[in-house]
Amino acid sequence: MTEKIPRTEARLTDSSDFNVLFIGAGNIMFGSPEGPWNHSFRLEHKLGPRLKVVGLVDPNTERARETLAKKCDSFVVSAYKDTRVCKNLDEFLQVMTPKERPHAAIVGSPPMFRGTVQQGRDIEAQLMKHFPGLPLFVEKPVTTGPLEEVKETYEIAKRISDSHTICSVGYMLRYLKAVQMMKKILLDNNLTVMSTIARYACAYEAIAKPEWWDKSKSAGPVIEQGTHFCDLSRYFGGEVDVSTVAAHSLEWDENAGKLSKQTIDESQIPPGNRIPRVTSATWKYESGAVGSFVHLVALQGHSYSCELEVYADGYQLKLVDPYVAPVLYVRQPGEDTETRMTFADDDPFFSEISHFIDTIENVQDEDNQPQILSSFDDAARTYELTWAIRHAAERSRAETLARQNAKKD
Ligand SMILES: NC(=O)c1ccc[n+]([C@@H]2O[C@H](COP(=O)([O-])OP(=O)(O)OC[C@H]3O[C@@H](n4cnc5c(N)ncnc54)[C@H](O)[C@@H]3O)[C@@H](O)[C@H]2O)c1
Repeated sequence: MTEKIPRTEARLTDSSDFNVLFIGAGNIMFGSPEGPWNHSFRLEHKLGPRLKVVGLVDPNTERARETLAKKCDSFVVSAYKDTRVCKNLDEFLQVMTPKERPHAAIVGSPPMFRGTVQQGRDIEAQLMKHFPGLPLFVEKPVTTGPLEEVKETYEIAKRISDSHTICSVGYMLRYLKAVQMMKKILLDNNLTVMSTIARYACAYEAIAKPEWWDKSKSAGPVIEQGTHFCDLSRYFGGEVDVSTVAAHSLEWDENAGKLSKQTIDESQIPPGNRIPRVTSATWKYESGAVGSFVHLVALQGHSYSCELEVYADGYQLKLVDPYVAPVLYVRQPGEDTETRMTFADDDPFFSEISHFIDTIENVQDEDNQPQILSSFDDAARTYELTWAIRHAAERSRAETLARQNAKKD
């Protein structure tokens, strides 16, 4: 996929170095053929020659070195030529000079290594301890682990907010122009959301990471992937009463759940860890509105099919294909047909990084809007919702099996 960047926002006139510490040297940081994500690329365009990546922390130092070598072989060499590769944060703390003190950290390690207060899984707490006030950009989901640990994630959220740490979480779809247009229509017309209906159908043939198919490693497709649409649903519907979440799943061992084009060998994954093919959930928002979400592991090829509908009195706002070519269909009072809106050259990954840097540097945007659209606390609530969906689906599956077994006896 070609990445189009609105270059006008780069502050190339300011020549002071902007030191960035990267945690994780994987796909989200440096890109992959799987999608348009690539934080290093957006930072290069946002900061231009000011960008200095002072450290790259990853236990896989070989991967980190290989990645850096490619960067150093390109025109962005000035950002990476002095980058220190460290296997953990402690090592970076030992070798860092005062001039290399970071101005921001981008955290893109796997979620099981962050978002808690436990040693080795507490990178935000460690960064806050060693670099008080350091702005943090953290990838989604904010953590993964047993649901009981979610209180630790809220503890991290509290520490971030109590210390006034600037923190942005990577729910980039919130920054889409189409999404902001939906927000504007709701606000301008003083509307109350009645319902959100979200569908996220991934193209499973293109998903070749065995861990993704293993619930014990990825936490499952709703927590790992559907989280983007659960988050967008919350962005429009508000807080969810998680006690109301009900869900059903279609599992791998049911006839309708058989897949013919998996590129991984699922027989290597213990049966109890295999992921559902369909998860369908509904819930009540605290406002009284009703939310609904379906995640499907059903499509082949490469393109995902994702849609979000938001309903309010007289209005239907339908967002289609937010990942690749967002289109917004709006039906409003007085019309039985939809108006189609497109948004050319919109790059939400650039916008989220741009807003993060502008918040740090206190640059106001034209409309003086809040610049960070996903806080750690907010993202922790999305995480809790996705767990509630997984639990509700597993509960309902267990009940169905128990009923079937009782009939047999
Ligand atoms: N917003 C998006 O659209 C989007 C897209 C892709 C990935 N992500 C998120 O980014 C995160 C990383 O995903 P990825 O695709 O880059 O994974 P990846 O497997 O490609 O890379 C992860 C890297 O982190 C390293 N790592 C492991 N433990 C670490 C630790 N304790 N400290 C530092 N580094 C460590 C690994 O060695 C690996 O190099 C996930 O949370 C994922 O959900 C978000």
